[in-house]
Amino acid sequence: MQKPTIKRITLKNLMVFLMLLSLTTLVVLTINFRSISVRIMEDKALAISEVVKAGLTSHMQAEIMAKRDYYLAEINALTLVNNVSIVRSKEVTNQFGAGHWREKEHDHITEEVFKTGQPIFILNDIEMEPYLRAIVPFIASTSEQLNCLRCHEVEEGTVLGAVDLRLDLTEYRDVTAKLLIAIGFVTFGFIFLIVINNFRTIQRYVQDPLNSLIKKTEDAYQTHTPINADEFECLEFEHVAREINLFTGEAAHRQELIEQKNMELEVMSKEIEQTLQETLFTMGVIEEHRSKETNNHTLRVTQYSQLLGSKYGLSDREVELLAMAAPLHDIGKLGIPDSILLKPGKLSEQEYEVMKNHCQIGHSMLSHSKRDVLQAAAIIAHQHHEKWDGSGYPQGLAGENIHIYGRIVTLVDVFDALATKRIYKEKWALPEIIAYVEKERGHQFDPALVDLLLKNMDTFLAIKHRYH
Ligand SMILES: [Fe+2]
Ligand SMILES: [Fe+2]
Repeated sequence: MQKPTIKRITLKNLMVFLMLLSLTTLVVLTINFRSISVRIMEDKALAISEVVKAGLTSHMQAEIMAKRDYYLAEINALTLVNNVSIVRSKEVTNQFGAGHWREKEHDHITEEVFKTGQPIFILNDIEMEPYLRAIVPFIASTSEQLNCLRCHEVEEGTVLGAVDLRLDLTEYRDVTAKLLIAIGFVTFGFIFLIVINNFRTIQRYVQDPLNSLIKKTEDAYQTHTPINADEFECLEFEHVAREINLFTGEAAHRQELIEQKNMELEVMSKEIEQTLQETLFTMGVIEEHRSKETNNHTLRVTQYSQLLGSKYGLSDREVELLAMAAPLHDIGKLGIPDSILLKPGKLSEQEYEVMKNHCQIGHSMLSHSKRDVLQAAAIIAHQHHEKWDGSGYPQGLAGENIHIYGRIVTLVDVFDALATKRIYKEKWALPEIIAYVEKERGHQFDPALVDLLLKNMDTFLAIKHRYH
């Protein structure tokens, strides 16, 4: 069976609303009952007036008008009737004389009745004892049954008199009030039930499923499991749940693709980084070969720098940059003439000055790039002959004004030069090396780095043996 749509549910509720409207109409009709009831009472007053008129006429015809009070007293004694009395016209008074105690004086209302010849009804249902006052005229007629002109010396159509009576409405008002109260209770009961029903409808068919859908959507997105669309009662929510399933399925698929692409990019990025590292290292090796440096000097300086940087407390990325940049520390030597670079003996003062230019040349070769690794390499090339006490070259920087990369490479470059054989010297024994770095602690080298080197000498020597 197909589930109801929100539209159908709304229509159903509208029907209930229309029923309420019908009920209200019924209430209005019931209220009209009051006016109908009043009309009935007016008709009743007219009927009683006719009876009074007929009675009086018969008294007149029987010439027993003097006895009419008994008759009027009996009428007056009827359950509903109060204060029935007669109002006599001037014409009748002129002909037969004034009336007696049961005949009323004229007031402005009876005057109106005499003037118009129409009955007047006055409803008073506000007081404790509600009543309907009716003033009904007797009009002179010449019909065969009742020819008034046989006794009255007036023209046909003259108002001869009027019956002025009151009908008691207490009972009628009580019944009407009870009826209205009952209808009021029923109406409010219906309205209350409809409101409750509407709340329940909204709660069950809109609010609850919506909250459930939101929760299930969050779960579906996180766990990549589809929502059970069949559990929703409304067709719309079932459709939305299925759309969400399609969407989350597609999102999960795309997520997988993105993750796969990210992995590929990561691999590619690592490969590029590796290629760059190897390229820089190769550049260092090219320089090493041209300078006829000891085998693996570049490789050992790289390893020593990495170790010392790590022991010093540089971040992983800084250590990485240092290791990639260190091989290029002497790249500037590519700009030094062979006659000086490869001279076996001691350099003259002038030659030494030329040789010192390799720091500036290396810096110029590398500093054009904005890439962090080449920036690091430019710093190292520039500063690896600076000394802690400021007596180094080319800038004569001192202490921490020398970049940590420069300070590290200075120490490990000298350490490797001392620990290996060169064309101009033999390799030094370990005690001599230690004595030298201790002597230069705070002069040529950063004291903290010397301490770290000495403390980790075994590890440095292990690197030296591994890459001999
Ligand atoms: Fe150098
Ligand atoms: Fe070197």
